[in-house]
Amino acid sequence: MKVLITGADGQLGTDLCKVLKNHQLLPLTINDGDITDYFFLEKQFLSYRPDVIINTAAYVRVDDCEDEVDLAFNVNALGARNVAVAAEKIGARLVHISTDYIFGGEDNPRSVPYTEFDDPIPSNTYGKSKLAGETLVRHLCKRHFIVRSSALFGTAGAMGKGGNFIETILRLAKERPELQVVNDQVFSPTCTRDLADKLVKIMPTELFGIFHITNSGACSWYEFAVEILRLAGIKTPVIPIKSEQYPQKARRPRYSVLDNYQARLLGWDDMRPWQSALVDYMQEKAYLNR
Ligand SMILES: NC(=O)c1ccc[n+]([C@@H]2O[C@H](COP(=O)([O-])OP(=O)(O)OC[C@H]3O[C@@H](n4cnc5c(N)ncnc54)[C@H](OP(=O)(O)O)[C@@H]3O)[C@@H](O)[C@H]2O)c1
Repeated sequence: MKVLITGADGQLGTDLCKVLKNHQLLPLTINDGDITDYFFLEKQFLSYRPDVIINTAAYVRVDDCEDEVDLAFNVNALGARNVAVAAEKIGARLVHISTDYIFGGEDNPRSVPYTEFDDPIPSNTYGKSKLAGETLVRHLCKRHFIVRSSALFGTAGAMGKGGNFIETILRLAKERPELQVVNDQVFSPTCTRDLADKLVKIMPTELFGIFHITNSGACSWYEFAVEILRLAGIKTPVIPIKSEQYPQKARRPRYSVLDNYQARLLGWDDMRPWQSALVDYMQEKAYLNR
C-alpha cells in the first residue's frame, strides 16, 4: 500500500516509518509543510496519491494548549479537518490519531475503562481540540479510522514535548534527592512501536470507525515512575502526591483508561502489558539495570 504519514519525525511517526518500511511511504514533517495549510496537503495528496494517510501531527503540549488555544484548535481541529477533506478528495483511507484526554472531564471521576461507545467529556483545551478534530474527521472523510491511545512512549521521544515521561523521570532521578510524582491520575501507558504495529493491522481493513488501542493494564504516573526507576536500578525515593500538590495549567483526567473494546469484540489478542513494553524500551535505550 502507498502510505503518507504526517508528523513523520514525531514519536509515533518515527516508529510508523520503521514498521512500514516495506510499503511505499511518503513521510511528511512540519518542515515539508503545515497541516493547517489545506492547499499544501491537497497538492501532496494529489501528486502522491496515497491509499492510506496516517495523521499523527498534532499540537501535543497539553499545558501550553491552555495559553495557545487558537493554535491548539488550528492544528488539532482544523488541521485534522484539512487532512480529512484532502483524503476524501482522493478517496484515501484516513487513520487519525486521537487521545484518551477526550475523556475524564466529568465532575465525578470514574473508575471503569472508557469504551469507544462512551460519550467524550474532555477536561482541558488539548482534549477539546482533539475531540473537535475527531468530529470533523468523522463527518468529512468516509473511510476513516479514529484511533485513540494514551501516554505514548517511543524511543524517538515526543517532538512536541521535548522527550517523554520516561526520559524526564530518569533525568530528574539523577538530579534530585527524591521525586514527587502524582498518584491520582490513572491511564494506560502505551508504546508507540506496539501502537504502530496495530495501526498497520487496522489500515487495510474495512473496519472503519473508532478504535481504542493501548497496552494493557493501567497505572498512575507515580506507579509508572516507580517501575521505570526499578528497571533502571536507580534508588532515588519516589513520593506519591495528589494532583493538587502539583499544579499544572491544564486540568488532567483522574482516570482515562481506554477499554480496547472494539478490538476485543473482534476477537483480537489484547495488547501486551505496558510493563513488558517498558522493558523493551529500557533495553533498546540501554537503561536496563535490574
Ligand atoms: N504523546 C502522548 O502521550 C499522546 C497520547 C495520546 C495520543 N497522542 C496523539 O498521538 C499523536 C502522536 O503524538 P506523538 O507523541 O508522536 O507527538 P510528537 O512526537 O510531538 O509528534 C507530533 C508531530 O506533529 C508535528 N506537528 C505539530 N504541528 C504540526 C503542524 N501544524 N503541521 C504538521 N506537523 C505538525 C510535530 O512537529 P514539531 O514537533 O516539529 O512541531 C511532530 O513531529 C498525536 O496526534 C497526539 O495527539 C499522544
